Amino acid sequence: MNILIKNGLIVNAGESVRADLYIEEDKIKAVASNITSNADEAIDAEGMYVLPGAIDPHTHISMEAGEITTKDDFKSGTAAAACGGITTILDFPEPAEGETLLDCIERKHKLAQGEAAVDYSFHPSITRSSSELIEEVERAIRDYGTPTFKIYMAYDIRADDLTILKVLQKTAKYGGLVMVHAENHSIIEFMTHKLANEGRTDLRYHPESRPSVAEEEAVSRAIKLAELTGAGLYIVHLSTRDALAKIREARARGVRVFAETCPQYLLLTEEKYELKGFEPAKYIISPPLRTARDNSALWNGIKSGDIQVAATDHCPFDFKGMKDRYGKKDFRKVPNGVPGVETLLMLLHSEGVVKGKISLGKMVEILSTNPARIFGLKEKGALLPGKDADVVVFDPGREFTIDHRKLHMNVDYNPYKGFKITGMPHLVYSRGRLVAKWEGKKMQFVGNPGWGRFVRRSIN
Ligand code: URP
Ligand code: ZN
Ligand code: ZN
Repeated sequence: MNILIKNGLIVNAGESVRADLYIEEDKIKAVASNITSNADEAIDAEGMYVLPGAIDPHTHISMEAGEITTKDDFKSGTAAAACGGITTILDFPEPAEGETLLDCIERKHKLAQGEAAVDYSFHPSITRSSSELIEEVERAIRDYGTPTFKIYMAYDIRADDLTILKVLQKTAKYGGLVMVHAENHSIIEFMTHKLANEGRTDLRYHPESRPSVAEEEAVSRAIKLAELTGAGLYIVHLSTRDALAKIREARARGVRVFAETCPQYLLLTEEKYELKGFEPAKYIISPPLRTARDNSALWNGIKSGDIQVAATDHCPFDFKGMKDRYGKKDFRKVPNGVPGVETLLMLLHSEGVVKGKISLGKMVEILSTNPARIFGLKEKGALLPGKDADVVVFDPGREFTIDHRKLHMNVDYNPYKGFKITGMPHLVYSRGRLVAKWEGKKMQFVGNPGWGRFVRRSIN
């Protein structure tokens, strides 16, 4: 099917132009003024933006966490993504005890095949300090098309510094990138024991158990390890001003370190932990929510280019039945994570572009162009001839109030409930196929499970 999108504002990272965009089958064929063609369908996008589909490089779909599993599987998670204008997700295969890295990638493939409605790829995770997992890095890069690896510096699945060094060495050698969850585990353990000894285990103490210095130290250490090996490094879900300062310093001296932040660290603060009853559980995440000063430092980091990507860390657990499963009065017992894959673009536009914190071009840069470039998604991330026709026709004036009942994520609450959004997707295309559209005051999923394809990647 050939589609002509006429008269929209075509937004790429560098520039926006009023033009037409012509899609032939699954690819963008032309971007120019006054295209005349016999398209099967012509869309009038007057007054609308035409954006490259957003890429969310940080989701936890069907992630097992002890006895529970994140609520979105590939079917619901990618339908929600499509409704939010996200046309590619990158998820984390996490080897269980005794499972190999490659078997784990295969297992995740089986979960996604026939289910995903938008394209997807994987970052295998090194979930323990194991030479077997490290040995598999080369094949994951060469044979599996998954050259980006997640390493946790905290949690039970953390890897030690020696493991981090060895994986960095391999990614430098074979062409890959290490992504780190950077929090100092010992600081967290120390603070958690201290709080417990003082009887301070109520939910409000969650941020005190994971202080900003835990992140700053781990970011700083990860950078030093990367520097030693000459490898690139990507910091996931950056939350603090002080850790950002370490990244800025490292970049200034030429270290190839990238940083990602998320809407929760740009828009919410630790005041949420003072809410009554069990409400703070909705915001129990790691790293925790920080201060307004951190929020604004992160916006500035995006503006200055020190933060290159906005992702979601989509990790949905129901408020009832999951967040409360192990107890309601102890922060240590609440599963960590918030849902977010569907609200990324609307929040960045409404809270970022509309409120003057970032430009439209910068929004496209951090949601599409940079993740495509950093993660080796060569066919994605820009509205240019030859690229995949992952396209969002976006109505910048459309209003919407966030409420989980009007969204498609399979979870019973939303951390941004009540946020008044200005600007919503109108039509969302994945490789030329309509997968979501605005209808009846909300987005409707009109795609098909199984349409989404695995994207093999390579990094130079
Ligand atoms: O609290 C969070 N962020 N949960 C998801 C797992 C992770 O650390 O990314
Ligand atoms: Zn993490
Ligand atoms: Zn995560």
